[in-house]
Amino acid sequence: MILSRIFRFECFCYWLTLTAVLLDGYSYNKVDRHAARVLLKNWRRKAEEQRAKFFDRLPKNVESSYTPPEVIKHRGYPAEVHNVTTDDGYILELHRIPPSSNNTPKKVVLLMHGVVESSGTWLVNPSSRSLAILLADQSYDVWLGNYRGNRYSRRHITLNPKQAQFWKFSWDEIGNYDIPSIINYILKETGQSKLSYIGHSLGCGVFFIAMVKHPELNSKIDIMIALAPLSSFAHFTTPLFRILTPFSKIIQFFLRMKRTLGWLDSAGIGDLFFDLICEQTYSQARLCRNVINAVAGPNPENLEPELIPLVGSNYMHGTSVPVIAQFAQNYFAGETFQAYDYGWKGNLMRYNSFTPMKYVLKKVTAPVYVFSGGNDRIVTPLDVDWLLKELGNLKDSIRISDYNHADFLWGTDVKGRLYDQVISLLPSP
Ligand SMILES: *[C@@H]1O[C@H](CO)[C@@H](O)[C@H](O)[C@H]1NC(C)=O
Repeated sequence: MILSRIFRFECFCYWLTLTAVLLDGYSYNKVDRHAARVLLKNWRRKAEEQRAKFFDRLPKNVESSYTPPEVIKHRGYPAEVHNVTTDDGYILELHRIPPSSNNTPKKVVLLMHGVVESSGTWLVNPSSRSLAILLADQSYDVWLGNYRGNRYSRRHITLNPKQAQFWKFSWDEIGNYDIPSIINYILKETGQSKLSYIGHSLGCGVFFIAMVKHPELNSKIDIMIALAPLSSFAHFTTPLFRILTPFSKIIQFFLRMKRTLGWLDSAGIGDLFFDLICEQTYSQARLCRNVINAVAGPNPENLEPELIPLVGSNYMHGTSVPVIAQFAQNYFAGETFQAYDYGWKGNLMRYNSFTPMKYVLKKVTAPVYVFSGGNDRIVTPLDVDWLLKELGNLKDSIRISDYNHADFLWGTDVKGRLYDQVISLLPSP
């Protein structure tokens, strides 16, 4: 009875607003009617949220079935899709939010996602705190990259993703081919000579590889902003260690089978499963948030349960087995940042040594600002400390003490705590 009374009261408020808006709408001009419509829409959304919370039902988010360009358009911004072909034939998809005024060329910012993710990860947060959207609001020319293997960059000029050969790549190929091709394509397309690069996690690791392998690229970087940057993986100790050990066995099993196809893409069954176990109620969403925190590090209140459906639909976008294996290899290798381990014979052929080549981070001469999280269990403070000692042109390093690995992307307070600072470091658009 109480429930139905609350419900009726809500409906009453809703109709009251509608009447007020309609009356308003007749007496004012078009602009006011638009404002009223926005007000009404907000009211309706708030009422729906309240009701959903009351019945412990998580509101559905249409964006969880959208591609990144569709999300960008849904948020009211223009979106472009570009295809880039790498020197070894992979076709990568770039998503762009072009600047609104075309008269003067605008500064380019390239955002690069972490492992198994895609450009969609920058659009999980609502517009008021999504880095991609905030940059577009500041009229930067925003490009969101996708490296090989994720669901938007799973094409090749000759190979088919159903062939094992397609999936024979690790961090090294992403850094050696994808990042240079993407940077050069964007500079050519925009007529600029430099761009700003913002990476998260492996999105930084592959940047460092690109700069080490292609020294001339360093001069094409205005500034690199490294969010929770991956390099050394030695201190990934955490409770997750217990998961990692059998995980590396599974990886070895896959590798021995030779037919190492792509994996970790949730499209289809995976998304249905996430939807069923994480996205029906607030209680489920909080439970799944606990899982995310167990992996990424604690800071639970900084991830809204309402965001879980978008996190779920944007997390697993696919990669190769060697990309994951290289994490295990670097973990066991201690404090270093090394290329893929092919076993002593393969290493001898590729690197002229029994052990994998180590990337010399002193050769990264592009200016780098590092932001890391004190609660990050994936890219730990100790590993970041190692990176800070190694980088060739470190400008500054900021540690946000309570941040975990996910806060850099999906945090509730991320605008005030991080993005405002990041944007202030970029050259003005
Ligand atoms: C990119 O490639 C896809 C698939 O081949 C194609 O449909 C699309 O038109 C291409 N986009 C551009 C801008 O070339």
